[in-house]
Amino acid sequence: MNALYRAMEEELALLREKGRYRFLRDLETPQGVEIVVDGKRYLNFSSNDYLGLASSGFLTGAAGELAKRWGVGAGASRLICGNMEVHRELEVEMARFKGTEECLVFSTGYMANLGIVSTLGTPETTVFSDELNHASIIDGCRMSRAKVLVYRHRDVDHLEDLLKKDENPRKVIITDGVFSMDGDIAPLPELCELKEKYGAFLVVDDAHATGVIGTGGRGTASHFGVTERVDIHMGTFSKALGTCGAYICTSRLVRDYFVNRCRPFIFNTGLPPLIAALTLVSLRHLMKHPDLPSRLREKVHLFSSVMGEEGYPLSSETPILPVIVGGDRETVAVSRRLMEEGFFVYGVRPPTVPEGTGRLRVTVTAAHEEEQIISCARTIARVMRSVRETT
Ligand SMILES: Cc1ncc(COP(=O)(O)O)c(C=O)c1O
Repeated sequence: MNALYRAMEEELALLREKGRYRFLRDLETPQGVEIVVDGKRYLNFSSNDYLGLASSGFLTGAAGELAKRWGVGAGASRLICGNMEVHRELEVEMARFKGTEECLVFSTGYMANLGIVSTLGTPETTVFSDELNHASIIDGCRMSRAKVLVYRHRDVDHLEDLLKKDENPRKVIITDGVFSMDGDIAPLPELCELKEKYGAFLVVDDAHATGVIGTGGRGTASHFGVTERVDIHMGTFSKALGTCGAYICTSRLVRDYFVNRCRPFIFNTGLPPLIAALTLVSLRHLMKHPDLPSRLREKVHLFSSVMGEEGYPLSSETPILPVIVGGDRETVAVSRRLMEEGFFVYGVRPPTVPEGTGRLRVTVTAAHEEEQIISCARTIARVMRSVRETT
C-alpha cells in the first residue's frame, strides 16, 4: 500500500477512535418530516427545509412541465451559453423580494461564498470575518489574497478594535445573518454603523434567514430594517425555499463586476434551469404566503418552551435550536438513543463546531405537527438526562 493510502487509513482510524467518523445515510424517502432510513421510519428534526417546501406538491407537480419548457441541465457556464431567460427572471424576482437593485444567481451557496470572498479579497483588502461564519466563507477567505482577521463571535467591540488598527484601504466585513450551528442572529445594526464609520463593505450570508426571518422571510437586514445599508445580501435556495442554488442581491455595479471577475461564477456550469424555474415557483409561493415564517416561529417557540419546562432553556429565535451535549462520544450516544426512539436528530461535532461543544442541532420546520414537536422535546430531555447519568 502506498503512503497516501496508508495515511488515509490511519486518519480514518483516528476519527473513529475519537468519535468523529462520518458516514452517509441513505434516505429511502424524499426530504420531509417523516423519513425512512434503513427501513425504519423516523420523525426528522435535522433538515434545513424550514418551510417544508422541498417535497411539496406544488413544486413536484410543476417539475414535469418546467423540465419540458427549460430542460434539466444548463449545459454550459452562464457566460458561454448556459444562461436562460429563467435565470434572469429569477434574478429580477429575487431582487424585488429583497429590495435591492440587482441579483446574481449562483449554482450553490458554497460557490457564492467562495466567489464573494475571493473576488472582493484582493491583496489590498482586509476581510473581517466572524469566528463562527460558515465553512464556505472560511474557505473563501483561504482562497482570497486578502489579509483575513477573525473577530470573536458577534463581538462588535473586538471588530472595531481590528478595524481601527487595520491600514488596508479596502475593508470587507462578512457575517452569517443567522448562524448555522447556533441559530443566533448577527448584530446587523451595529455592523452597519461600523461599516459606515470605517468605510467598509458589508456582506451578510442569509442562507438560514431567507424565508425564515424579516418581513415575509426577507432575511436578516429586513429583520433589522437595514436593507439599504448592506452591500451584498447572499443567500441560498437550498434551505427554506426547498430547491438549491444561491443568490447575491446587490447593486448593478457589484453584479456587473462579479459577472466579469468572480471565478466561481465564471468557471461553473449555470444553475440547472429546471431548478431556477422551480425556485421561482417556490419564491412566488413565499411571496403569496407572507405568514409562512410566522407559522414557523410559532413552532420554534413551542419547542423552546417545552425544552424550558424540561430544564433545558434555549435562547434561539430561529428554527436552529442547538442542544449542547459536550463531548464527541456523548453527542453520538445521545443522537443514537434518539434514533432508537424514532427521532432523527443529527449530532454535530468538531470541526463543524468548537471543541467541547458537540450538540444536537435540532431544526423545527413549519411542516411539523405540534404533537411531534412536544414529543421530540420531551424525548430529547429524557435521553439527555439518562446519558448524563450513565457517563
Ligand atoms: C451559512 C451557510 N452559508 C452557505 C451555505 C452553503 O450553501 P449550499 O448548501 O447551498 O452550498 C450553507 C449551507 O450549508 C450555510 O449554512
